[in-house]
Amino acid sequence: MDAQLAQLRPTAPHTGSFADCLMAGLRKNPKEIACKYFYDAAGSKLFDEICELPEYYQTRTETMLLTRHAGEIAALIGDGAEIVEFGAGSLRKVRLLLDAAKAGAYTPLDISGAYLAGVVRQLAADYPHLTLRPLVGDFTLPLDIPALPGHSRRAGFFPGSTIGNFKPDAAMALLRRMRGVLNGGGLLVGVDLVKDPARLHAAYNDAAGVTALFNKNLLVRANRELGADFDVDDFAHYAPYNPNAHRIEMYLVSRKRQRVTIAGEHFDFAHGEAVHSEDSHKYTIESFREMAVRAGFRPRTVWTDAERLFSLHWLES
Ligand code: AVJ
Repeated sequence: MDAQLAQLRPTAPHTGSFADCLMAGLRKNPKEIACKYFYDAAGSKLFDEICELPEYYQTRTETMLLTRHAGEIAALIGDGAEIVEFGAGSLRKVRLLLDAAKAGAYTPLDISGAYLAGVVRQLAADYPHLTLRPLVGDFTLPLDIPALPGHSRRAGFFPGSTIGNFKPDAAMALLRRMRGVLNGGGLLVGVDLVKDPARLHAAYNDAAGVTALFNKNLLVRANRELGADFDVDDFAHYAPYNPNAHRIEMYLVSRKRQRVTIAGEHFDFAHGEAVHSEDSHKYTIESFREMAVRAGFRPRTVWTDAERLFSLHWLES
């Protein structure tokens, strides 16, 4: 049976479409595009490719941590719980939890409905006894996830260091809102750690150029969905590490003076002008735990690898 895709009903008015957000961002100085728009079906696939890159240690390390500590994590989640995953993506990581935990239900929330539909169909086939409630929605908007009958206990799952996309104040506010939908349950969060800048730089500037394609997919998407006339080759991927702000900053840099038209409006780019497309903040174990405390959580167990590349945090409500 096909799992139904329910539309998550935001409790506040929707903050605008890709068109509105893109055009508003390009009118700003400096120009910007919100990183959540990376994830159409093509962008979600490119992100899955990034996760397999030799330079992108994050996914491999987090998967190893989830595998190694699955039993302990399952015990914390508890039998029969509903696992709510924020920004679920490929649904690969949750399988490690579902295999170890006797979860009763799984609610993946993702912004890409088309992508979610495909991966949920496969998950439903592999876990026929699991109650599945896929939700298409944007977890940066106010969250309201109604209780599932028969599943009072809830645990949140927020892997991949997606939390890093938010500036520290916004990250804290997001954790606080997540806490609000957990009904007293815990949250398992994956957090990328501060490390040698060269290692971070390599992870966002891979030799195969997949991250560049992922970044430029924003422009491809604008051309396809909005009839924009970006010449994608006239923009360059640029992703430096800002060591004082502890973050990778991603940009699309105009390789020449040019004009782009979107829905009849003209946008002028100077040679070398940059559009900011993503931040990826890195934390120390301590700085992340402090933020979790400010969000109202009690940080409990933290798991990390021998090189301290990545961390997994169990936070209690
Ligand atoms: C999905 C936000 C965790 O910041 O590492 C990967 C996105 N951007 N390569 C990250 C991303 C460029 C990724 N997150």
